[in-house]
Amino acid sequence: MRRGKQEPIIRSGLDIGTRKISLIVTETDPLSSEMQVIAVGSARARGISKGDIQDPDLVVESIRRAVDEAETAFDLNIRDTFLAVGPSSASVFRLEHRFPLREEGTPERPVTGKDMKDAVKGAVRVAREKGKELLVHAIPLGYSVDSGFPVRDPRGLKGSVLTVEVLFIGLPEEGVRRSITCAEKAGLKILGVVHKSIASAFGSLSEEEIIDGAVAVDIGAGTSTVTCVRDGTIRDVSIFPGGGDLVTQDVAKLLMIPTSKAEYLKREISLFEDPCDLQDELEFDLDGEPFVATVQDVLDIVFPRMEEILFDFLSPRIEEFGQEKFLRSIVFSGGVACARGFLDLVNDNFDIPVRIGGPVNSMSLPPQARGCEFASTVGIVNYLLEREAHPEILLEPCLAELTGAPDDEQSMDILILDPRRSVATRTRKGNRGKGPMDGFIDALKNAFRELF
Ligand SMILES: Nc1ncnc2c1ncn2[C@@H]1O[C@H](COP(=O)(O)OP(=O)(O)OP(=O)(O)O)[C@@H](O)[C@H]1O
Ligand SMILES: [Mg+2]
Repeated sequence: MRRGKQEPIIRSGLDIGTRKISLIVTETDPLSSEMQVIAVGSARARGISKGDIQDPDLVVESIRRAVDEAETAFDLNIRDTFLAVGPSSASVFRLEHRFPLREEGTPERPVTGKDMKDAVKGAVRVAREKGKELLVHAIPLGYSVDSGFPVRDPRGLKGSVLTVEVLFIGLPEEGVRRSITCAEKAGLKILGVVHKSIASAFGSLSEEEIIDGAVAVDIGAGTSTVTCVRDGTIRDVSIFPGGGDLVTQDVAKLLMIPTSKAEYLKREISLFEDPCDLQDELEFDLDGEPFVATVQDVLDIVFPRMEEILFDFLSPRIEEFGQEKFLRSIVFSGGVACARGFLDLVNDNFDIPVRIGGPVNSMSLPPQARGCEFASTVGIVNYLLEREAHPEILLEPCLAELTGAPDDEQSMDILILDPRRSVATRTRKGNRGKGPMDGFIDALKNAFRELF
């Protein structure tokens, strides 16, 4: 039973992946802060290659199918949502910005919250001049005063110059806008965008791992990401434009079979196959004729590509972070991590504890959405919670551009929409009240919230 009269807080996320599009809606009790998943929907993505939209009409249809599934099963109308995207290209860079705390001839003074905000704004300004990408994320990594050590909160420290180091994730604007347009054509209103790497981290890592240090690796169909997290925040991100589809394509090409059959074969074998089973036969019908391949045949194709993805591309980035000696665990998610034998394979090859990261807090998820390929979907709402709790470390400089705010000096500010007021609206079918747009516009009007 609900206590008091406070409305539950609704958050929603749409995850546009190369192979699947999934939607999640959660409800949080404002008194107990208990979050529950109230709807999920998922559909096979069509019209997307390596995270990039190739055929918008097919993508609109796929989104609609995912939304319909959630709406029908859970008797809801879903409108406002956040979007997770993972295009094949992204620009991840760090930028240091120096902010003077005093003018010449004036004494040193202590750092204030406003100085921190101004330093970050300065870094955003420089980053904008640097490239054409849409700056989707700006994450302050640390502040130092004069030549002191970087700290998370420098307020009160005395000095002449405040330096902030900011991690930026910039995405090609056209691709992001195309994703938004597809979602809008499917009847949704997009309130913000999160990169798949960030969503995956918040979807698969435990609170302790986020604090102590962990790497979240999401190997999807078209893209793979490595996200390093420590001290409660994102420290670094790497993106690799490849994933499980490469494996499927290899099987299809070398055995000269359709991709659907290659996908079947790939899932039938284990990456850590028992030698006794290598000569087992896998059979299916192909154009009326039986097609037979042994486990060994398939493994000989799958294994080298998996090794390439894992050990040539992803592990150097994981090890780089591991050298910092703050690595509690490596957590794998994305559909490829669901492959049989995957855990044994990675366990055998990394010294640091490894685990498969199903969506955190997945108890209220329906069983079909508890697999590790749903970590990034659940991660969208976890990201929103995190951002709400720590608005000063999870900034989205592109929000003004995406939401059409005027390009004046104000838009140099960093907009933070309050997800509690605007993220998603739950409208029971046949009971549409005040439109979700109203809440969104109100939120936009009041969006310039103090960072500190
Ligand atoms: N049991 C399994 N065995 C092997 N591979 C699997 C298994 N389940 C899923 N995959 C692979 O995982 C990939 C899909 O993963 P996921 O659903 O995370 O991708 P996505 O989110 O749609 O794509 P991306 O995030 O890369 O844009 C596909 O390549 C699929 O073949
Ligand atoms: Mg994905």
